[in-house]
Amino acid sequence: MWTLWPGYVCFFSLLTAVTVSGDDIRFASYYGDHMVLQKAPEKAVLWGYGPKNVSVVVTLSGLSKRKTYSSTVFDGIWRVTLDPVKAGGPYNVSAVQKGGSDAEVTLTDVLFGDVWLCGGQSNMAFTVSQMYNSSAELDLASRYPDVRIFQVALETSAAELRDLSGIAVPWSVPTADLLGGGDFTQFSAVCWMFGRYLYQTLRYPVGLVESCWGGTPVEAWSSTRVLQKCGITQGAQSSYNFMDSELFITAGPMHNSVLWNAMIHPLLNMTITGAIWYQGESNHNLNCDLYNCTFPSMIDDWRMAFHQGSGGQSALDFPFGFVQLSTWQKGSKLDGFPDIRWHQTADFGYVPNERMKRTFMAVAMDLPDADSTWGSIHPRFKQEVAYRLSLGALAVAYGERGVSHQGPFPSTVRINDTHLMLTYNQNVSATTSKDLFEICCSTEKVQCDPLQHSWMTVPMVPQGSATVAVTLIGCRGEHVASLRYAWRDWPCDFKACPVYSADEVLPAPPFLLHRW
Ligand SMILES: *[C@@H]1O[C@H](CO)[C@@H](O)[C@H](O)[C@H]1NC(C)=O
Ligand SMILES: *[C@@H]1O[C@H](CO)[C@@H](O)[C@H](O)[C@H]1NC(C)=O
Ligand SMILES: *[C@@H]1O[C@H](CO)[C@@H](O)[C@H](O)[C@H]1NC(C)=O
Ligand SMILES: *[C@@H]1O[C@H](CO)[C@@H](O)[C@H](O)[C@H]1NC(C)=O
Ligand SMILES: *[C@@H]1O[C@H](CO)[C@@H](O)[C@H](O)[C@H]1NC(C)=O
Ligand SMILES: *[C@@H]1O[C@H](CO)[C@@H](O)[C@H](O)[C@H]1NC(C)=O
Ligand SMILES: *[C@@H]1O[C@H](CO)[C@@H](O)[C@H](O)[C@H]1NC(C)=O
Repeated sequence: MWTLWPGYVCFFSLLTAVTVSGDDIRFASYYGDHMVLQKAPEKAVLWGYGPKNVSVVVTLSGLSKRKTYSSTVFDGIWRVTLDPVKAGGPYNVSAVQKGGSDAEVTLTDVLFGDVWLCGGQSNMAFTVSQMYNSSAELDLASRYPDVRIFQVALETSAAELRDLSGIAVPWSVPTADLLGGGDFTQFSAVCWMFGRYLYQTLRYPVGLVESCWGGTPVEAWSSTRVLQKCGITQGAQSSYNFMDSELFITAGPMHNSVLWNAMIHPLLNMTITGAIWYQGESNHNLNCDLYNCTFPSMIDDWRMAFHQGSGGQSALDFPFGFVQLSTWQKGSKLDGFPDIRWHQTADFGYVPNERMKRTFMAVAMDLPDADSTWGSIHPRFKQEVAYRLSLGALAVAYGERGVSHQGPFPSTVRINDTHLMLTYNQNVSATTSKDLFEICCSTEKVQCDPLQHSWMTVPMVPQGSATVAVTLIGCRGEHVASLRYAWRDWPCDFKACPVYSADEVLPAPPFLLHRW
């Protein structure tokens, strides 16, 4: 049985291994028994260490015809790229050293399937045992032996690492013990549920790689390329407000790039299908205005870097899904959460969009949890969140037709003296709202500046299958300049927002529309 992190962490000293000679060959840290390698049409990459100049013969044996590949150790490293292997298994992968010794290292029970990376902060670290319905979910774990898990240990580094310096959970077949570790340890509820929902549709192996840390800002997960692009030169530590007690309980490293360096960069050679992400809470008061640059740029940068690291195998536009922030403080007047939600979409309100291609989003603002044991910033409704994400993945990553994954978004706005008629891009299930629609008025034809203009709540009444009417009261001779929806930290009660998809599954995301 596993003890909890940090009691159980395998430490490796591979970082210095590149210069040794005379040592026998081995695989890089994150190759192991029970692992999932990326299936066809992509090619999986295998690499490791070895003594100078020896040749290495890698053999894949299992379902298909035995196949061998050879490589030579150069600069302490050997590497092979397998031919595409279709989903399934089990396979064994052995690497044999030719020269010096005949050392052999073997990975057993290897499956080929889709590999997904799961990143972010505490709401991604939140474990299966912490979520609602955890006991039922843990009981089911053993029914999904083809959904395999791996978890990177919490490590920081001032420089980009070649390999992981620690592993929290080596590649494993899921068990209730592994999924139900202590709070915020192992294994991620959103990551696991996402993988198991996908598996129910795909019916072939899924590999889940968790690499996340509670209380961390996007800057820690971003390379210097991203920070430079967004004009961030300062380290984050000094500007962070540690007074937020709920955030504090899960506070992690804040320094620029330290987690990119230690927990993402080492994984770049791995061929992956895509990534999911749940983060943003720690940026509500840290470079919040820049999140519309940092987050989309981090996605671009991860895509470019994984594409290069895998020798072109991970797609340059691999699908990237994320959870739009849920809720934190009921009644809060602070704009942090609404601003981050908006910036998570690069200020479009929906994804995918022109700026954020092949992305998908789970809206979660209607899943508040005032009584969560871990503070309201950590809602326990992770099944819903993961389910919504899995719909996005099926539609965007797998191109399944007819999977609806986006809540309604306004497509046309008509305005007369007394009303604003908002037509959504799909039929809606709408209920009257007294205060979630707000307008902003101006004497000039300009966009509302939230600091100079004030917002007024206006009543909304449903009108027909895709349209709602907002009554314009209060502009008194000025023009209605902007309209926004659900622009607050905690907009609605559980699954009780005013606008949903017609089947009542997907909430309409918040929006901010300017007339000019
Ligand atoms: C390794 O190979 C290089 C190039 O073939 C050669 O110059 C070098 O002497 C070899 N080193 C060893 C330790 O065999
Ligand atoms: C893999 O290796 C194990 C242990 O050596 C062996 O029992 C098994 O039959 C092998 N499986 C395949 C597919 O070669
Ligand atoms: C728990 O699971 C059941 C059955 O899947 C579902 O109906 C229920 O809504 C879930 N409860 C929560 C709180 O997620
Ligand atoms: C990836 O593989 C290359 C060898 O092709 C190696 O030099 C590098 O250290 C590996 N790791 C990373 C993070 O690039
Ligand atoms: C990002 O948001 C800020 C503040 O809301 C805004 O001033 C800026 O123009 C936005 N930048 C981009 C690239 O959308
Ligand atoms: C404005 O539109 C609303 C909704 O269609 C309608 O009820 C109202 O009569 C219109 N008002 C004027 C002044 O045309
Ligand atoms: C939307 O609702 C209208 C009126 O009920 C119906 O005729 C139409 O088929 C619906 N559209 C879709 C795409 O379901």
